Amino acid sequence: MNAMAGAVSRAVNVEDLRRAARRRLPRVVFDYIDGGADAEITLRENCRAFEAITFRPRCAVETPPSDLRTSVLGLPLSLPFLFAPVGSSRMFYPRGEEVAARVAGAAGTVYILSTLSGCRLEDVKKATQGHAWYQVYLCGGRDVAASTIGRARDAGFSALVVTIDTPVAGLRERDFRNGTKELLTRRPWPMLPYVGQFIARPRWLAQFIADGGLMTFPNVMLPEGPMLYTDVAAALEQSTVTWRDLDWIRDRWRGPIVVKGIHTSEDARRAVDAGASALVVSNHGGRQLDGVPPTLRVLPEVLAAVNGRVEVLVDGGIRRGSDVVKALCLGARAVLIGRAYAYGLGAGGGPGVTRTVDILRTDIVRTLKLLGCPSIAELNRSYIEAPADWFNHTVAAAPGNWAR
Ligand code: GLV
Repeated sequence: MNAMAGAVSRAVNVEDLRRAARRRLPRVVFDYIDGGADAEITLRENCRAFEAITFRPRCAVETPPSDLRTSVLGLPLSLPFLFAPVGSSRMFYPRGEEVAARVAGAAGTVYILSTLSGCRLEDVKKATQGHAWYQVYLCGGRDVAASTIGRARDAGFSALVVTIDTPVAGLRERDFRNGTKELLTRRPWPMLPYVGQFIARPRWLAQFIADGGLMTFPNVMLPEGPMLYTDVAAALEQSTVTWRDLDWIRDRWRGPIVVKGIHTSEDARRAVDAGASALVVSNHGGRQLDGVPPTLRVLPEVLAAVNGRVEVLVDGGIRRGSDVVKALCLGARAVLIGRAYAYGLGAGGGPGVTRTVDILRTDIVRTLKLLGCPSIAELNRSYIEAPADWFNHTVAAAPGNWAR
């Protein structure tokens, strides 16, 4: 067994996989996964919010084998977590998106493919035996997006995820320090101060070169070919998704639409009114506007605003099965994991992602047993204590002149 496989199989928790990913990946790639925007306050708070919730177990009760099954948008899932869209997974491991999708499908859950992925959406869908959703940015404009949405439909993606929190890319300070900009010039002199990080990771480098080197974005097909890495920031900025675009998308996509990036009750109601079938309470893993509250803290406000009209999912900061259980006790239908599986992918490809799934699954089963609860369907607020002020919502009146 090589060192990488050993580290993956010995990983006891997601933090172990994170450390293993840091050992295998060049700094610029690891920090792309691990980092957040600005001072990374929201990134940290997303995780810390889980510590503010404590459990209220029912002891000395018999529990049958734990039942982790649920459904999201009518799809049966074996686990209460889905794979969040994670851009550039192909940089973490060869064919990264296909590898992660395969593991998600085998585990009985949904893989959500990011627009900013390095593998063709058709290949990713073929790689999984399960359901896949497509996350859409309007990079390249509406015509480009319309053609991708058509491809996603033809390939069999079952829902469209519209991310609404990315009018510009957040400032990921670590990316600047690691020379992302200079490396993307692909010119020797600007790159020189930053190449040491690749030489220090020869195994990753060999696999990266064998997989075709620097990826492009084959799901953003511009007239001149797939979008290049250097063009991402500008493309995001020129293609801000607005509520009007949501109407446009709805006219082109017959299936369910999931709106991701909900921070407030106002946007939650607006998304439901715009025809969303489900929402994801998300701050993009603390990668966009730093200083927004942790998602777990916002979840009760959004649930109250939505009042059961659509399913509400949440992401951000989930590193343990007990975190999944806490979010479900608060009322989330299911959660999305992002970094948790990306660390596994970076640490060791498919086996690394499988290890993430196994760790979270066994954590959830153990937590249910310790709580004295037989199934995730029966989790509710009575199993937790959460700060009272999380439930004092100041429900802002809908402004009359909502900008479109
Ligand atoms: C892309 O959406 C990212 O967060 O890097």
